[in-house]
Amino acid sequence: MTTTATSPQYDADVYTDAALLEPYEHYRALRELGPAVYLTAHDAWAVARYDDAKAVLAAPEVFRSASGIALNEPANAAILGCTLASDGEHHAHLRRIVAHRLTPRALRPVRHTVTEAAEELVAGLVARGSFDAVGDLARALPLSVVPDFIGWPEEGREHLLRWAGANFDSFGPLNERARAALPQCGEMAAYGAALVRDGNVLPGSLGAGVLEARDRGEVTEEQAMMLMLDYLAPSLDTTISAVGSAIWLLGTHPEQWDRLRAEPGLIPNAVQEIVRLESPIRGFGRLAARDTEIGGVAVPAGSRVLVLYASANRDERHFADPDVFDVARPEAPEQLGFGYGEHGCAGQGLAKMEVAALLEALARTVTRFELGRPERGLNNLIRAFSSVPVRVHTG
Ligand code: HEM
Repeated sequence: MTTTATSPQYDADVYTDAALLEPYEHYRALRELGPAVYLTAHDAWAVARYDDAKAVLAAPEVFRSASGIALNEPANAAILGCTLASDGEHHAHLRRIVAHRLTPRALRPVRHTVTEAAEELVAGLVARGSFDAVGDLARALPLSVVPDFIGWPEEGREHLLRWAGANFDSFGPLNERARAALPQCGEMAAYGAALVRDGNVLPGSLGAGVLEARDRGEVTEEQAMMLMLDYLAPSLDTTISAVGSAIWLLGTHPEQWDRLRAEPGLIPNAVQEIVRLESPIRGFGRLAARDTEIGGVAVPAGSRVLVLYASANRDERHFADPDVFDVARPEAPEQLGFGYGEHGCAGQGLAKMEVAALLEALARTVTRFELGRPERGLNNLIRAFSSVPVRVHTG
């Protein structure tokens, strides 16, 4: 890869433990350097500003997802052809097979299940008084709702969190975290393949619909396996991250919690604001199909491009006082934390519903979150706490 003398460059490895823990100064520096900045440590172009990130996501014919999502070849090869890592008509076809199950109308009956599960969970935790907002709250809801929705059988669920985390680790550069993750992604793929082969999915679920599509000849056996994983792998850590961050943000900004309790109608906006400020997925890659430019910076054909949603969401060119947490921020829904365009998150309706249901249940009884010392987890792609101890006050 050659860069021109005028191309902005950045030499830091943005995937070290320290950079993953404190990424925001790196993002600020990248935004200041230009619309596309060559990362010498990763042989990739970082797109850290809001307008440029959105423009890249809106041009999938130039910035391709097949072979482009991860920053390393083994991971790109392993996921080639899945929904996330496909383009054009093939991608549209895969989305059509399941999209009808995730529309607001299709999700209406799911809302009832999610709300009930959230209320029961919150009632139990509030009665306890102190709990871990990650281990006891954030993980519990998606794990009780999403595998059933996807149709994953009971057996094998004990591996889901480890596999899902490995899936996201594998998408980074080929560092130690990605190397350790790749064999675990293989385990998950083998498990998914066996489910499809044996037809071992819950009746009426998204997975059952995928198998019916296979039986009608609309997708191959391999595509059916990928579709099972496509919807499970990104559905856990992301939502868990958002809920953990929500409790931490609302605990450290009690006036914002007061506002939400007084105006629960703001909860959907608050969910967008949480995903904006603490974007669960840092960024995904693309591959430039031809010589092109990003905001006037020349990017040669074959370049890897890293779209940093988490940085775009704090771009001072787009968001006023971007580091401030404001549950009523009018432009919060413009955030890019769920991606944008053709590959925009297919499960965002479900994710928003889960986070909102938990906040609604909490808002009815909890007056204050008293936080203990939170711990961060480290993952190449996911920004999340591994633990947020909390004592809740009521009345
Ligand atoms: C807070 C929670 C979530 C966040 C922040 C999130 C974020 C994202 C992002 C940024 C993308 C875009 C990928 C790209 O640009 O290439 C994406 C895609 C995707 N997400 Fe989510 N996600 C969340 C929850 C979920 C859930 C619950 C599901 C499944 C039920 C899901 C399924 C998917 C799928 C299938 C794609 C691929 C779409 C495509 O390539 O066409 N996500 N998500």
